[in-house]
Amino acid sequence: MDARKTFDEQKRHWQDVYETNPDKFGQSPSSAALLAHELFAARGVKTALELGCGAGRDTLFFLQQGLRVTAADYATRAIKALAERASGISSGQLSVVEHDVRLPLPFAGRSFDACYSHMLLCMALTTKEIEGILLEIWRVLKPGGL
Ligand SMILES: C[S@@+](CC[C@H](N)C(=O)[O-])C[C@H]1O[C@@H](n2cnc3c(N)ncnc32)[C@H](O)[C@@H]1O
Repeated sequence: MDARKTFDEQKRHWQDVYETNPDKFGQSPSSAALLAHELFAARGVKTALELGCGAGRDTLFFLQQGLRVTAADYATRAIKALAERASGISSGQLSVVEHDVRLPLPFAGRSFDACYSHMLLCMALTTKEIEGILLEIWRVLKPGGL
C-alpha cells in the first residue's frame, strides 16, 4: 500500500465532506465526548486540546461545559465551520488551529490539562506516525494530564 497516496486521498475526502456537508456528524456531542466530560469534571480539567475536531460537535459541547478548548484539524472547511458556530457561544474560550497531526504540535510543553480525540487515530496514519502523535500529546500535557 502506498501510504502517502492513501493519506492524500483521505485528506481530499475530508475537505470535500466538510465543503458539501459540514453537518456530516450532526451537531450533538458524541457518546465519547459525554464520557470524556465526566472524566474531565472528576479530574478538574479546565483546558483541553482536541485533535481531529472536524466541524466541532464535541468542541462546542466542551465549550458549553465551561472548558477552554484548543481544537485542531487539517480540513480548512471544518475549522471554518467550527469557528463560525462557536462565535455565538464562546468568547475567548476557543482557539482553532489548522494542523496536520503528523507534524509536531504547535504548542509549548505542559500546556493542557487534557487531550481528547474522537475517531482520529483510526485515520490513514502509519504506526510510526501514531507513535509520534502520542509522544507529542504527552509533551503538551501538563504532568498528570488526562
Ligand atoms: C471521522 S472524522 C471525526 C471528526 C470529529 N472528531 C467528530 O467526531 O465529529 C476524522 C477527522 O480527523 C481529521 N483528520 C484526519 N487526518 C488528520 C490529520 N493527519 N491531521 C489532522 N486532522 C486529521 C479529519 O479532517 C476529520 O475531521
